[in-house]
Amino acid sequence: MRSVFLPFAPPTISQEEITEVIDTLSSDWITTGPKVKKFEEMFAQYIGSETALALNSCTAGLHLALIALGIGPGDEVITTPMTFCSTVNVIEQVGAHPVLVDVQPDTLNISPELIEKAVTEKTKCILPVHYAGHPCEMDTIKEIARTKNLYIVEDAAHAFSARYKGQKVGTIGDLTAFSFYVTKNITTAEGGMLTGNPEFIEKARIYSLHGMSKDAWKRYDKGSSWYYEVVYPGFKYNMTDIHASIGLRQLQKIETFQSRRREIAHKYDEAFSEYPYFEIPCRLPNIEHAWHLYVLRLNLETLRIDRDQFIEELKERKIGTSVHFIPIHLHPYYRKKYGYKPEDYPVAYFNFKRIISLPIYPRMSDQDIADVIEAVVDVAEKYKR
Ligand SMILES: Cc1ncc(COP(=O)(O)O)c(C=O)c1O
Repeated sequence: MRSVFLPFAPPTISQEEITEVIDTLSSDWITTGPKVKKFEEMFAQYIGSETALALNSCTAGLHLALIALGIGPGDEVITTPMTFCSTVNVIEQVGAHPVLVDVQPDTLNISPELIEKAVTEKTKCILPVHYAGHPCEMDTIKEIARTKNLYIVEDAAHAFSARYKGQKVGTIGDLTAFSFYVTKNITTAEGGMLTGNPEFIEKARIYSLHGMSKDAWKRYDKGSSWYYEVVYPGFKYNMTDIHASIGLRQLQKIETFQSRRREIAHKYDEAFSEYPYFEIPCRLPNIEHAWHLYVLRLNLETLRIDRDQFIEELKERKIGTSVHFIPIHLHPYYRKKYGYKPEDYPVAYFNFKRIISLPIYPRMSDQDIADVIEAVVDVAEKYKR
């Protein structure tokens, strides 16, 4: 057994990020400025998006996306229960009505057939989440959006560098939000990026900084004017140059990071597919998985313990794990407001009880991977039926 606890998802930060942050801190400009601009340009270039807007979170990106598209009271937004709370919180925040539809049993991504059935005259937008980094069925979702005249805002918090039929996530729907939270495929500690239609991005950009017609860097730079006007009642969602410094260096390593994530997923697949206790993550043809999460599903009928006890056993074996996600309809706010019952979304609910997210990150050593496999198999063998 391991002597040292293996954390679930620590960042992979090296000297380059530290040097870049020091460079920024030693300069005359530490908030939104030249490094953010460079990060946006590099990110847009990598994704193949015309433009990109750096923000202080993915949540900010999703919120601004809905605002830029003019979604508000009286509108319905169709999304998934199998997501982080902020995907749905932002729909509530703009005063719209979130309409949850269940997920597909294989990918745990939103079901296009159920989206189609849920569309009403009030529907304005579909908000798919690329769960764990596996892209949703975007062709079908796009077709529904086209025929029903709906917007698509993608939650790509997990899906940086994922591809759908050869196309990078971030270039498919009207707007796409990415996360650089500390556990994500690249990090800025906290941060996010919005890509997509330049007209909406520009509107979101103004909203991201108080709704001012000119940002501070443009006001304080030499040769600029102090004058600005408020054209929208905006927010304070901008990224700082300190955070962008980390992002710039992380972005340069994305291919190496992804290749290690793929390697780890492959090793887990090979090890766990031998046993009846587990269901390994599905991947459909024609996609490139971002492997933000490796979600192992327990076949609970083969075990004498439940998922929570399984996690405790792994903790005792010094393996950190997590659960993605507690489905939205189980949270008190949503349960009370909309009267949801657990069985209203049977696929999400059934799978919630059997999922465990295992450690998967670039700086895991081969020994770390072997330790995770050994611990998971050991718990299952000890408690098999
Ligand atoms: C699916 C999903 N959407 C949105 C978010 C929010 O990201 P952020 O913390 O950057 O706001 C997360 C964060 O974990 C997430 O998992």
